[in-house]
Amino acid sequence: MLNDKLDLYLKEGYYPFHMPGSKRSELLRSDLPYRRDLTEIYGFDNLNDPEDIFVEMEEKLARIYGVKKAIISTNGSTSGILSTIRALCRNNKNILIQRSSHKSVYNACELNSLSVSYINIVTDEQLAIKDIDYENLEEKLKEKNYQALVLTSPSYEGYLLDLKRIYKICRKNRTKLILDMAHGSHLPLTSLYDNSFDVAITSFHKNLSALTPSAAVIINDMEYFDEIKRNMAIFQTSSPSYVILQSIDEMIGRFESFENLYKDLENNIDDLYKLKLDHLELVDNPSKDRTKILISTKNTNISGSDLERLLREDKIEIEMAYPDYALLISTIFDTKEGFDRLKKSLRRIDGLLEEKNKSYSLDLQVPQKKFEIFEAINYKKKNIKLENSLGHIAGEFVYAYPPGSPIIAPGEIIDAEILSTFHYMLDNNIHLNIKDEYISVIIDK
Ligand SMILES: Cc1ncc(COP(=O)(O)O)c(C=O)c1O
Repeated sequence: MLNDKLDLYLKEGYYPFHMPGSKRSELLRSDLPYRRDLTEIYGFDNLNDPEDIFVEMEEKLARIYGVKKAIISTNGSTSGILSTIRALCRNNKNILIQRSSHKSVYNACELNSLSVSYINIVTDEQLAIKDIDYENLEEKLKEKNYQALVLTSPSYEGYLLDLKRIYKICRKNRTKLILDMAHGSHLPLTSLYDNSFDVAITSFHKNLSALTPSAAVIINDMEYFDEIKRNMAIFQTSSPSYVILQSIDEMIGRFESFENLYKDLENNIDDLYKLKLDHLELVDNPSKDRTKILISTKNTNISGSDLERLLREDKIEIEMAYPDYALLISTIFDTKEGFDRLKKSLRRIDGLLEEKNKSYSLDLQVPQKKFEIFEAINYKKKNIKLENSLGHIAGEFVYAYPPGSPIIAPGEIIDAEILSTFHYMLDNNIHLNIKDEYISVIIDK
């Protein structure tokens, strides 16, 4: 496809009196892909209005994900999420989202002036987001006519939702299911993949091989295909990166061979999860993707950040650390040598640790809403000390890490319960995105 065509083209010796400005120049670094950077020249299709190469690539992607259509994004899942929500929520502006949704979901709600309601999340012992509250979902969908439900599965830490159950509930209530599957592009290689959704968005760069930030919207419900496609041309650059597109082409071309690589990864992972550790715990669960290696420090005398630092002493870099766990991402491109280094390092670190019981729980209630996000964002605001904020209306998101869920969103009322949640989190080392305990509140419309 794209790569083969470009290989031939480059041999033909055309002189580039066109963009990109780097002109395949040999003056530039040879380890950056200038020689293969091109634009919509004759015969190389147009991603925003595809006719041949990209149609073929999108058809192959649709087959891989078992859906009717795929639309490639060279601007991450972010532009896929913005496009999908805009396309679906044009008329009915009621949307139901998982409280722990990614920023792009919240941004879509703001940009499209949506009326937002939330599904409560359920966390595991380490406060990683594990599930949603299914009863809460059924109740919410009965209460109001929501155009769409937006959920994230798998979570960053690899927990999967029961999509069959959710999709059934959505269909019964005539609500479209939009799945943020940014962290699950590799799932078709596993037994965990479930295509029970109307539209999903997935990032190839997170767990497969295509370059950052390649992604796709994958679609079962054709009713909105044209409108999503039109919106993709709004939210994506008009100069999509052909280097990224070539990496997607390479990924598609090799996808079958990835199945064998996945078997090797599974063996390495099985081996890792058998590691005997006295203090650290490799969190395992039937509804969890094991490639997301979640190491709990909960019953130890160190935090997830300490574990990150100790792993770095052994030259191992991780994805992210929270107070009670560290998250490591493994993919089919990891090596046995990499896993051996990790096991050796974990054994060393485990030997340094002592047992310590750190127990706290978190009940993240959704505060009362005074204004929608899109309204609150436009009101005048000022920063005040948290201790003086009782009864004020938040002018910004305050996130808790973990579980990466807003404690408060713009337009919500800071009541006594929310204030005590803030203090509980600060006391328990849960990171909040506020500086010096100041919070932005609305002062005037
Ligand atoms: C749950 C979730 N959704 C969407 C995104 C956006 O993905 P991208 O980086 O491909 O734009 C992210 C990014 O980290 C994410 O974690």
